[in-house]
Amino acid sequence: MPKRTAILISGRGSNMSSLIAAAMAPDYPARIELVLSNRPDAGGLERARAADIETAVVDHKAFETREDFDAAMQAVLDEHNIELVCLAGFMRILTDGFIAQWSDRMINIHPSLLPSFKGLNTHKRVLDAGVRIAGCTVHVVRPEMDTGPIIAQAAVPVLPDDTEDALGARVLEAEHILYPRALALYASGQARVVSERIVFSGDAASMDTAIFSLPSRA
Ligand code: GAR
Repeated sequence: MPKRTAILISGRGSNMSSLIAAAMAPDYPARIELVLSNRPDAGGLERARAADIETAVVDHKAFETREDFDAAMQAVLDEHNIELVCLAGFMRILTDGFIAQWSDRMINIHPSLLPSFKGLNTHKRVLDAGVRIAGCTVHVVRPEMDTGPIIAQAAVPVLPDDTEDALGARVLEAEHILYPRALALYASGQARVVSERIVFSGDAASMDTAIFSLPSRA
């Protein structure tokens, strides 16, 4: 049975759309049952509705504490019998309690090659640091921000004339390829956590968990 999956968003939801599209395939091991946003104006909500996916909003501004906000999200996830959560541009810090509740059942995409460049403004910091390779990571969520067992990574080049936007767009393109693959591996059980690292089994050996995209030369 495909895993009943919710996607949590805060913004435009382009990764969400790539997951929804992938999950339409009949043999995909996850089914997107719900898109949940903490912002009523998140652009991704409209995109989800257009794809006939149920949506919900838990507006963080309506809650005094993070605990109350997380409890309200938990209630919505429970209502939909969600088994797996994908964070896709979800920009709220979650409580340790909520993360523990979803331990090994919640994954995230981050626009850097973790453990480098955790946190916000990744592309600016990548350019400032002068690194030559950037990328993105899908990992299992742990209480410390942007940490947890790594399922898959994609690397893209940093080009000499890159701006934040140009680099961000290149990384995002890789994110859209990486996240559906990583979710497939995780939802199917072919990638699982053992001693805080991911081990692969079954067909996973033949699936790309490391993706390299080479620069196109002008
Ligand atoms: C993506 O680049 C994602 O990796 C990043 O936010 C963007 C959301 O875009 N997430 C983080 O920075 C989490 N720390 P999207 O809404 O179009 O998917």
